[in-house]
Amino acid sequence: MKLGVNIDHIATLRNARGGVEPNLVEAAKIILKEDIHSLTMHLREDRRHIKDNDLYDIKNLGAKINLEMAAVEEIQKIALDLIPFSVCIVPEKRLEITTEGGLDVAGQKEYLKEYIKPLKQKGIIVSLFIDADFRQIEAAKYTGTDYIELHTGSFSNAFLSGNYKDELEKLKKASLYAEDCGIKVNAGHGLDYKNVHLMKEVSGLYELNIGHSIISKAVFVGIKEAVREMLSLIK
Ligand code: PXP
Repeated sequence: MKLGVNIDHIATLRNARGGVEPNLVEAAKIILKEDIHSLTMHLREDRRHIKDNDLYDIKNLGAKINLEMAAVEEIQKIALDLIPFSVCIVPEKRLEITTEGGLDVAGQKEYLKEYIKPLKQKGIIVSLFIDADFRQIEAAKYTGTDYIELHTGSFSNAFLSGNYKDELEKLKKASLYAEDCGIKVNAGHGLDYKNVHLMKEVSGLYELNIGHSIISKAVFVGIKEAVREMLSLIK
């Protein structure tokens, strides 16, 4: 399994004081020296953490950016200009603290099919962030997406209560079903140093996108060590 490091919360901390520290580019340079696959950045419509120029600054480092984005015209234009390595389409609500629940692909499959076309035409890999739900996987297949990213939030919450077997089972079945449908599978949300080893039981996972737990650990051990520890757990 590969690791995508979500660096949104470095920007969250920076924006808390409106200055430049902690410097996102300097942090990205340190992370990029490790054996990671991509840097994930969510350009939210309210720009609460990542700002537009952050994307270009990080791209200029030669990073593979995985751009998380809502399926709206404004962000599509930016993606088509930036040309990140990949995009992950997520649902977005202004008042949420973080992405809650997966994208309802089944309810907007025609729209999403058209929405991702120009992105794919530019060679950008497309992923849809969905719950472990067969109906959503079938709809994802219809859109022509390259990947799905399975939302691991319910599994992560269940892990905290110690009763996670059912949620893990759902992820395992969903991953197999997506593979059968010819879709590649990533996963992420709420994964941390205690629960991430269980992702090895989910067959076919290509990449894990992890942010909050890594940036939180970095407060204590530094970003290089935090990334290394996570890498050692998923290799
Ligand atoms: N994947 C997606 C699609 C997300 O929206 C997020 C949160 O930004 C993550 C992964 C990372 O989640 P976490 O910060 O809980 O590791």
